[in-house]
Amino acid sequence: MTAKLFTPITIKNVTLKNKIVMSPMCMYSSEGDGYISDFHYTHYISRAIGQVGLVMIEATAVTKQGQISTKDLGIYDDEHVQGLKKLVKGIKAYGARTAIQLGHAGRKAIFDGEIIAPSSIAFDQESKTPKKMSMNEITETIDAFKKAAFRSKLAGFDIVEIHAAHGYLINQFLSPLSNKRNDEYGGTRKNRFRFLKEIIHSVKNVWDGPLFVRISADEYDPDGNQMEDFIYFASEMKKLDVDLIDCSTGGVIRTPINIYPGYQIRHSETIKEHAKMATGAVGLITTGIQAEEILQNERADLIFVGRELLRNPYWSKTAADELHVKLDPPQQYSRGW
Ligand code: FNR
Repeated sequence: MTAKLFTPITIKNVTLKNKIVMSPMCMYSSEGDGYISDFHYTHYISRAIGQVGLVMIEATAVTKQGQISTKDLGIYDDEHVQGLKKLVKGIKAYGARTAIQLGHAGRKAIFDGEIIAPSSIAFDQESKTPKKMSMNEITETIDAFKKAAFRSKLAGFDIVEIHAAHGYLINQFLSPLSNKRNDEYGGTRKNRFRFLKEIIHSVKNVWDGPLFVRISADEYDPDGNQMEDFIYFASEMKKLDVDLIDCSTGGVIRTPINIYPGYQIRHSETIKEHAKMATGAVGLITTGIQAEEILQNERADLIFVGRELLRNPYWSKTAADELHVKLDPPQQYSRGW
């Protein structure tokens, strides 16, 4: 048997040497005003040496007002490009491909000033109440995603992922729990999808590489979006030539989530089947055998690994050993791999 996990995959013009993706994870370690720090070089390049196929950089803010924390990476200024470019070069030197996740926190932002959201509803009792976005602010934010995508291109990233999950700004527009607007950006699911649709359109004006979108495919609330809504969103994104839906869950409201091995895979499987889209599976995928099962049963096209890669930067090697695959070592490690 050839392990699917270690078979290359080509998405548009980009070939990944295997199907292991380092899931985007905020490291709260930026320097100054959203700049890459020495930590980021060590952290991300280690996973490239560890033979991850695609290293995805953490949620990176498209505006300062959209930072999840003041230590988030930013891509809201041309000055951010230089550090990101150096990081991309460092990762690529070890054969991994690079992606960046572009995000805006909306009502979940920690910003020392006004925060914005589709409606003026706070996330929870402890959170600041956001200002309802004006038409102008909607247009400006869409433009900020476009500028961020252009800067991502300048930095040399292979893939861009739009963060539309975990209850951040785009997710706030998609969900009826947080979007109570009565203009063309709220109400029906077609209207709630409009903000994301316009972001995808404007990003595509400047970005012709693979485009992924991360969604929360379960809001864990009977009044929130349901699977048929997510299938609708994914099908619309397919029409817009989005290449992959990265299927996470939760974060729109504060509610407990039952977490178990592979707890989000069924969402990836359903969306893949019904929207006929490539998908990524994520969430407590910790062994090579588990990852291989998901791929062989066509429940996802890519495997995103988060915390297990924090614990073990060589997880790809561990998974390859489990699946009896011989993984070529980084040239420097050829005597002891
Ligand atoms: C995350 N996660 C996350 N998700 C995302 O879309 N953007 C992000 O920036 C972050 N940041 C982040 C930081 C840290 C420290 C953790 C642990 C997680 C979620 C992450 O990408 C992944 O979806 C979950 O951790 C579930 O996968 P694992 O960790 O069970 O493999």
